[in-house]
Amino acid sequence: MKIKVAGVELHCDVAGGGPVVLFVHGFPLSGRLWEPAVRRLSSAYRCIVPDLRGMGRSRGTATATMQDYAEDLAVVLDAVGETGPVVAVGLSMGGYVLFEFFRRHRGRVRALVLADTQAVDDKPETRARRQEMIAAVRQRGSSVAAEAMIEKLFGPDAPAGLRREWLEIMSASPSEGVTAALQAMADRPDSRPTLAEIDVPTLIAVGEHDTITPPGVHREMHEAIRGASLEIVPGAGHMLPVEKPEAFGEILERFLAELELGDDPLSNSNTVK
Ligand code: MLT
Repeated sequence: MKIKVAGVELHCDVAGGGPVVLFVHGFPLSGRLWEPAVRRLSSAYRCIVPDLRGMGRSRGTATATMQDYAEDLAVVLDAVGETGPVVAVGLSMGGYVLFEFFRRHRGRVRALVLADTQAVDDKPETRARRQEMIAAVRQRGSSVAAEAMIEKLFGPDAPAGLRREWLEIMSASPSEGVTAALQAMADRPDSRPTLAEIDVPTLIAVGEHDTITPPGVHREMHEAIRGASLEIVPGAGHMLPVEKPEAFGEILERFLAELELGDDPLSNSNTVK
């Protein structure tokens, strides 16, 4: 379905019925990241899967901030009729957005899944690299960012077909969406102070070969978030949900079951594409 947010048209898939799980992808990916997880969970959960503004099938804006992406999530949830707290799952930049969402909409978060992400803000050299990438994308389009990312996204065992598929998806992102997201990531606040404020059940998951947000930063988040659990998944890189869909699906399903969310009679149970 399409959802209008302050004049921007966002794409959002909604599948299944039951307690609500919101999935937030990373940069410069799309909701397709969550396809295996949604296939597994949609018989028991209502899965809400937006494409962030300027990525996948969502229209972009010339600039965006983490606050914009977080507010977009609130509008998406309103538009699909979910005003109560949801389980929010974010990968990488999706995690950065969820930290902001948690700060702004604490009452709408029932539990968090932080996958292949980090709380710390950018170092000056990372900010400088992002500025160079913004200039390159403005000159040559999204494929420059896609080619730079593809080298880092996957663990050593990822099949060539999976790499090709994601190179294509990332290259198709509108260049305006890619540059806006790069700037938003460079400007994002340090979320480490937020970790001590997180008082909802939290699962942290990371691929053992993730070089973008390595296991070490997940161990730090694990220590800083009260009661959080940590899963380091053998064989996966940064793209855990598509590299090891079985392992990720099992971990997620177990976490959701432990939450004992029960049936939410107010939840819709339709599938919308
Ligand atoms: C992502 O996967 O969302 C990005 O690589 C994160 C980042 O560049 O900080």
